[in-house]
Amino acid sequence: MIAKTTIQKIIDEARVEEVVGEFVALKKRGSNLQGLCPFHNEKTPSFNVSPAKNIYKCFGCGKAGDPVRFLMDYQQLSYPDALRYLAKKYNIEIEETYQTDQQKQEEQEKFNLTESIHIANTFAQKFFSDYMVNNEAGRIGWAYFKERRFTQSTIDKFQLGFAPDGGDVLTKHAMQNGFQLDVLKKAGLTSPKENSTYDFFRNRVMFPIHNMTGKVVAFGGRIMVKDEKAPKYVNTGESEVYQKSKILYGAYFAKNEIRKKDECLLVEGYTDVISLHQAGIENVVASSGTALTQDQIRLIKRITPNITMLYDGDAAGIKAALRGTDLILEEGMNVRIVVLPQSDDPDSFVKRDGSEALLNYIQQNKKDLVSFKSLLLADEAKNDPIRKAQLIRDILESIAKIPDQIQRSVYIKESSQLFDMNEQMLITEVNKLRHKKAKDAQAAKEKEEQSQSNGEEYVPDERDLYVGNQQYEEVQERKPFSAADSTLALLEKDVMRIVVEFGALPIGEAEEDGIVLDYVKEELTGIDFTTPIYQRMYTGIIRDQAQRVPIDDKYFINHEDQEIAQEAIQLLAHPYSLSENWWNKFKIIVPDRQQSFLKDIQSAVLRLKQYLNIAELRKVEQHIKKAEEDKNEEEVLRLLKVHKTLMVQKKEFAVMIGNVVYRPNT
Ligand code: CTP
Ligand code: MN
Repeated sequence: MIAKTTIQKIIDEARVEEVVGEFVALKKRGSNLQGLCPFHNEKTPSFNVSPAKNIYKCFGCGKAGDPVRFLMDYQQLSYPDALRYLAKKYNIEIEETYQTDQQKQEEQEKFNLTESIHIANTFAQKFFSDYMVNNEAGRIGWAYFKERRFTQSTIDKFQLGFAPDGGDVLTKHAMQNGFQLDVLKKAGLTSPKENSTYDFFRNRVMFPIHNMTGKVVAFGGRIMVKDEKAPKYVNTGESEVYQKSKILYGAYFAKNEIRKKDECLLVEGYTDVISLHQAGIENVVASSGTALTQDQIRLIKRITPNITMLYDGDAAGIKAALRGTDLILEEGMNVRIVVLPQSDDPDSFVKRDGSEALLNYIQQNKKDLVSFKSLLLADEAKNDPIRKAQLIRDILESIAKIPDQIQRSVYIKESSQLFDMNEQMLITEVNKLRHKKAKDAQAAKEKEEQSQSNGEEYVPDERDLYVGNQQYEEVQERKPFSAADSTLALLEKDVMRIVVEFGALPIGEAEEDGIVLDYVKEELTGIDFTTPIYQRMYTGIIRDQAQRVPIDDKYFINHEDQEIAQEAIQLLAHPYSLSENWWNKFKIIVPDRQQSFLKDIQSAVLRLKQYLNIAELRKVEQHIKKAEEDKNEEEVLRLLKVHKTLMVQKKEFAVMIGNVVYRPNT
């Protein structure tokens, strides 16, 4: 464990602009820096880095965080690894320490489990390889690979092996070597059934699957003889260390060559990858029988934007190729498709004709998506106008998914020539599709958000809140930014934002005056936040303060509860705030946000209280109405008194807000 003090040192030292700047080209814009977001595709920069707050935030995709978070997200490092990276960068010596016994134990257990699984997988891989060479019964596996003309160095490089047929040969052997049955099951090496010691892989040639760092995380086991009743491949299920949607077979061996060639060949099978490597074509990976996933595509995207799919000439191969193409386009990458001659796969092609012939074939038959799709269906559609219309629509839908406009127009031009159709009409069509897509996405998002917030509660007319109607429109306008925000949530957000940013600052010159948090605490006595995360943050900081945990300006950002830390960062990075707009509205130039925080906090707290006051007023008015209907005069009188008090408060709030707002120089 890295000591808390070291973590603090690292966090204090690490500069967001320096860390992000290593990977993203940043340009100065005012006091901030801007660049193209590394987490999503964009042409105009919406990725902001604030050196002052030491955080980054993308207003396009919402990714945000501090230097540590950036490394975790962008470099896929674990939290401790990100810290170690920074320690190295800033020459900070890491002091190791220990957590409480229970934390230590939990941490240790989790670490032990993944580590044990890795060790078990390595053990199994060695066992399978060794068994194939040194055991009489294993020679059959070796013969199989030889038959497929895999050389010894290929077998060694890919660590191929053989799983014996005995039933529990591996499991027993592993247990004799100190492995726990539980770990073997979790690694997927032993049948998961309770108390069973049955080997998961039996009588199969074994293909270890490596992660990006070259560790064995899973296996594919191939049957050696055709058997209708048994599956051709058996693969490790999902485990602590293996999620198949995030792994590409061969990526570890291919990554350098992919970078060099600036192209990644994508094939279907383990044996295709291996054969091509053996033939000297090493920029090749396989999706291993599953449909290509977004995670897999992004693995490639980190190395090259160019993917060439190399699929069998049979119907299944073509279908498989088509499934992945749209996802690749959506990532803003370039996809080409090569269909091999009927009955060939890359493995058989390269074995028969050699690598040069295959590379030539690829060069000559590479098709972009439009030509590929049109060729595919051209024959079929030639004399069938309905089919042709369907085909064109299908192609336009693919084009609409391409984020880059120039690329889209290239494809549209190509389609227009191919199908002899008016180009402008195709552009209009594609734009319609894009518009619809955006609308659908927005609608889906809103629907989800609506189902999350309960619309039961009475919300006062926002117009009541402010001096004029313009203010109302302003709130309305801001809604699309975060559709889930009701006015109340926005007001709460404003208070919380200020607590996060300025909560630890002293209110006055004297220490007894306390900090901003104390002011908020006093003002909000008896008031709860309705937004659960804010309530959690607020009660948490109050509790910590009572327990003399030091409250500083990094209290929330460095919170160990990641959800709270993230929320704090989101709040800090928010481009607008009600208060800021409020000031701007009245043309009050606030020279420095830091200096204005006292007015900001007053105004934010007041407006939250004003809102609650009006909500209460409306509620009481409804009750009065009901009491009148019920002819309950006593109740009506009582409620009218309450109403009067609330009305007095309402006026007070208006005056106070006026004072805060209109007096720019206090
Ligand atoms: N696959 C699988 N289970 C099956 C069939 C296939 O998991 N029952 C996956 C494997 O990852 C395989 C890929 O799909 O590598 C492609 O299948 P296929 O072309 O049949 O396998 P190859 O690896 O090419 O094997 P071979 O050349 O020996 O036929
Ligand atoms: Mn095959």
